Amino acid sequence: MEWTTSELRQSRGVIESYRELLPVSASTTIVSLGEGNTPLIYCPQLSKRVGRGCQVFVKNEGVNPTASFKDRGMTVAVSKAMERGAAAIICASTGNTSASAAAYAARAGILCIVILPAGRIATGKLLQAFVYGAKIVAIDGNFDDALRIVRELGEGHQFVIVNSINPDRLAGQKTAAFEIVDVLGDAPDFHLLPVGNAGNITAYWAGYRDYEPHRKSASVPAMIGFQAAGAAPIFYNRIIERPETIASAIRIGNPASWKHARAAIAESRGAIDVVSDEEILAGQSWLARHEGIFVEPASAAAIAGLLKCCGSNEAAYSFQKIPEGSRIVCTVTGHGLKDPDAIIERMKELKPVAATVNEARRAIGL
Ligand code: F0G
Repeated sequence: MEWTTSELRQSRGVIESYRELLPVSASTTIVSLGEGNTPLIYCPQLSKRVGRGCQVFVKNEGVNPTASFKDRGMTVAVSKAMERGAAAIICASTGNTSASAAAYAARAGILCIVILPAGRIATGKLLQAFVYGAKIVAIDGNFDDALRIVRELGEGHQFVIVNSINPDRLAGQKTAAFEIVDVLGDAPDFHLLPVGNAGNITAYWAGYRDYEPHRKSASVPAMIGFQAAGAAPIFYNRIIERPETIASAIRIGNPASWKHARAAIAESRGAIDVVSDEEILAGQSWLARHEGIFVEPASAAAIAGLLKCCGSNEAAYSFQKIPEGSRIVCTVTGHGLKDPDAIIERMKELKPVAATVNEARRAIGL
């Protein structure tokens, strides 16, 4: 007998949990690794930073099967690709999409081809695509070049594209919004998240909108997106030819869902803003040290953004006069262990001491 993920135990995967809201039928064979149902963590220290009795929650997407939010969309995209009889999937990636696509393709028993900017993928993510057995092609170009190539290769219908230009991906990613509403009993007032190719902000907004008529929520949040200052085409309203940021996951100069993101921000009366690399690294460190949550730099853009909204008068959205008791959710999109390079650099100051109690005491500072 073959067991499905849902028969086995706790995490049923997002398709089993939200079947009626997703583009699947009874005959779709579900390809799942038990993704979703990620913790919504109340953060007392972040709440204190906002003040005015506001509550801040972090949606920790780093605990998905391949350690990023991409798995929610990938289970739907790969299940649908199998339904259509695909023999291979293809994607461009800054790292996480390729890690997720490679895992779900392995699970489905089909080929996964990933086109990546050479030398620009965080170590842990490249390692994932490799270990799951993807066919990896590294190009001398950036993510936007990789996506252009993938679009062309996908046109022949030989491969199913599993980037967020595939609507099945976005349908799956909506489930994060459903989960938040299910846990809080309503939508939050504000939703903050990092923006790269702009699929996720599009999916969250669609998810909140889809859930409202089901009377699961009485309102929708203001969507506030953050781009890295050196890779902020939506903020500056122009294509960035050579995007640069330490947050390699969102190093994107011409996002595919640009227009949808703009619409989400306008319709929700939200905002788009930028954070510097210094603010991103400070946000990453702050969240790890004060709330015990370790996220990759791109994810830390949401935290850096929240801190900017609290303090700076230059923020596109100020929380200084935010209604008392507002509820704020920040999505942290990927686990910190995927992209440790900046931290490894800082760890170099760690020097061994002699193996004696006295030396250990001295090193502790006793
Ligand atoms: N955070 C992380 C960790 C990501 O990997 C990405 C996107 C984003 C945020 C931005 O999400 O593109 O929907 O606006 N990563 C893609 C990839 C581009 O190839 O892994 P988005």
